[in-house]
Amino acid sequence: MATNLLFLSVIAWYSLGINCGGEPVTVYGEKDNTFDGDTDEVGPSSFRQSSTNWALSSTGFFPDNARSQDNFTNVGDTFIYKLTNEIPAMANPQLYRDARLSPISLTYYGFCLANGKYTVNLHFAETVFTNGQTYKSLGRRIFDVYIQGRLVQEDFNIVDAAGGISTPVIMNYTAAVTSGTLEIRFYWAGKGTTGIPLTGVYGPLISAISADPAEVASSTSPGGIVGAVVGIVAGGVFIILLVFGILWRRGLLGQQNTLEDDLKGVDLQTGKFTFRQLKDATNNFDKANKIGEGGFGSVYKGLLSDGTVIAVKQLSSKSKQGNREFVNEIGMISALQHPHLVKLHGCCIEGNQLLLVYEYMENNSLARALFGPEESQLKLDWPTRHKICVGIARGLAYLHEESRLKVVHRDIKATNVLLDKNLTPKISDFGLAKLDEEDNTHISTRIAGT
Ligand SMILES: *[C@@H]1O[C@H](CO)[C@@H](O)[C@H](O)[C@H]1NC(C)=O
Ligand SMILES: *[C@@H]1O[C@H](CO)[C@@H](O)[C@H](O)[C@H]1NC(C)=O
Repeated sequence: MATNLLFLSVIAWYSLGINCGGEPVTVYGEKDNTFDGDTDEVGPSSFRQSSTNWALSSTGFFPDNARSQDNFTNVGDTFIYKLTNEIPAMANPQLYRDARLSPISLTYYGFCLANGKYTVNLHFAETVFTNGQTYKSLGRRIFDVYIQGRLVQEDFNIVDAAGGISTPVIMNYTAAVTSGTLEIRFYWAGKGTTGIPLTGVYGPLISAISADPAEVASSTSPGGIVGAVVGIVAGGVFIILLVFGILWRRGLLGQQNTLEDDLKGVDLQTGKFTFRQLKDATNNFDKANKIGEGGFGSVYKGLLSDGTVIAVKQLSSKSKQGNREFVNEIGMISALQHPHLVKLHGCCIEGNQLLLVYEYMENNSLARALFGPEESQLKLDWPTRHKICVGIARGLAYLHEESRLKVVHRDIKATNVLLDKNLTPKISDFGLAKLDEEDNTHISTRIAGT
């Protein structure tokens, strides 16, 4: 499934659904909605990421004497409250039976969402307090809600909003997603009761979260390819892409599909160039401008009309293998930016023409500097060699440890290390790179690259 994961790394999601504290649920209605399960431990340091497109973190600690209370499951620094009493008659009780409770602050993050406006629905029900004559009915839970860092609900009291205890209420907001991320934060600002019904059990309580596009922008990138699928409901797109990924992997797709077709719906998050622009920039791919021959295509130096010097990698349109590496490469590089990784300016996809546009590296590759024809060899003194080694190491450390996507390059060699005019090394050619999943205990010993 590695290829499909790569695939996921470049597609955008169009919705978010979380059954906070509970098991996965599908709610059938005029529009079916899937809510992911959310029963894992969270802590301030262990930011918990789901297998789909969201994550959560919590801050604060419940006091020790609160941790052994009935009906609360202590999961890291949050509680999951399970309603074990008879479920009151309400719509979709499975969303409200379990809820997540945090002592101070609980934040859910949606990732890789297509940019645009979303409707965010927050499902609440006050299931911890009870009606009646006992002191338990005196509890008051008050917290604030922030969406994208903006305070959308101050001193929110579920019971007041819902008009009663154990009564669901769905609060609706619109939020603009501009960089693929949606952040929803519940924050206990010290108000309300803290000792009712149980000592130390207080703080924001959330039952479920969903977000759906209100209107998704027609494009998220300068010439976006995503436009063609706008408006198609998320799940559909996702499944189509997944099936597509599998078919593609198995080579079941006929040659008649151009890459342009293949990439519809893939949010490449990068600039787009026309074939004509690149043809002009490289003087119709003049041999004199050729600066290298990569694993799956030639590289040309080019000059854009605005004076930017670029390197254009032209993919031979024959190889299907190449297509996959191409998508892989765009996906990887557009998501990764570091001083020691070669920068991708954009790409060009027209018919079967596939080109990648990079920053131009004045001193070509390390391989050429060391072992190239005599006239292109560079005299590298020891401090420079040291600088180059450390630079490569920094680039790799970023890929392995620091970036949001953990990437194993799998083809580090002198030809894939480029040198700019100051001899700063930059890693290139992510064609064989793979995403490294954190929980992936399986070790691949298959040889890749050279
Ligand atoms: C936990 O659930 C049981 C079973 O419904 C109930 O009898 C008990 O009162 C609940 N405990 C608390 C602390 O609410
Ligand atoms: C939010 O929208 C839902 C329908 O999606 C509706 O049932 C509910 O009443 C709305 N909530 C508020 C507070 O208006």
